[in-house]
Amino acid sequence: MALLKVSGLAKSFGGVKAVSDLSFAVAPNQIKAIIGPNGAGKTTVFNLLCGVFAADAGTVEFAGRNISSLAPYVRARLGVGRTFQNTLLFDEMSVEENVMAATEAGLRLNAFAYLFRWPAVARAERQRREIAAEALKLVGLQDKARDPAGNLPAGERRLLEIARALGTRPEIVLLDEPAAGLNNAETDRLKHAIRAIRDRSITVLLVEHDMGLVMEICDEIVVLDQGAKIAEGPPLLIQEDDRVIEAYLGRPADNA
Ligand SMILES: Nc1ncnc2c1ncn2[C@@H]1O[C@H](COP(=O)(O)OP(=O)(O)OP(=O)(O)O)[C@@H](O)[C@H]1O
Ligand SMILES: [Mg+2]
Repeated sequence: MALLKVSGLAKSFGGVKAVSDLSFAVAPNQIKAIIGPNGAGKTTVFNLLCGVFAADAGTVEFAGRNISSLAPYVRARLGVGRTFQNTLLFDEMSVEENVMAATEAGLRLNAFAYLFRWPAVARAERQRREIAAEALKLVGLQDKARDPAGNLPAGERRLLEIARALGTRPEIVLLDEPAAGLNNAETDRLKHAIRAIRDRSITVLLVEHDMGLVMEICDEIVVLDQGAKIAEGPPLLIQEDDRVIEAYLGRPADNA
């Protein structure tokens, strides 16, 4: 059974059809990518999946359950985690604290607990620290746990964002352009991290413009052009698909 299933999804902004009649599925333990030219609708799809926008039509099913009308935080709690195209880290806090801030464990403790139930607070704190340590290990930042986040270079900031998404203990994690702005060495670390995440049985759906990375690590690719799916399949078939080549290189008429 698919872990995530999208059927007939549509979203317009004014007159612009950002996403139209989109259907695809993500199997458990897959690394799947959504690619397409700028403005194709990729980020909009992510926003529809995690509930930032309500869809005009269509459904999103997660683990067999229709989550289309659920709020973003409910979807996150059910296991849909994500990163954003633009970073938001707490630079003054340590790397570890950045991840701990994203974990939910212990949030149920109220002020009363903090005043009178220290063992429960200490236990929740320990649990959050463990979740953070595991997330940092998956992305290869365990040795930087105590460093201020503001000291990290671009590539490691990106890895930290991913660790923050893992801090919510997702079953699927949505990564929006994780390789944007990274150099080759940083992209290699990112590849390694994405594979490690999948090996921990966390399904990965990513939007990415770095075709080298997409072709190397993905099991399957969905190609969007002007909001519609024009191809779907394994990397080797996508690379040879005429409609995909046309969407990227421009139609003959566009070049005239
Ligand atoms: N909040 C919004 N309000 C109005 N229009 C929007 C909004 N978000 C996206 N759009 C429009 O929807 C279309 C798809 O945008 P989207 O950001 O999903 O593309 P994308 O594939 O992620 O592009 P990129 O590769 O540049 O990140 C574009 O025409 C964009 O201008
Ligand atoms: Mg985008």
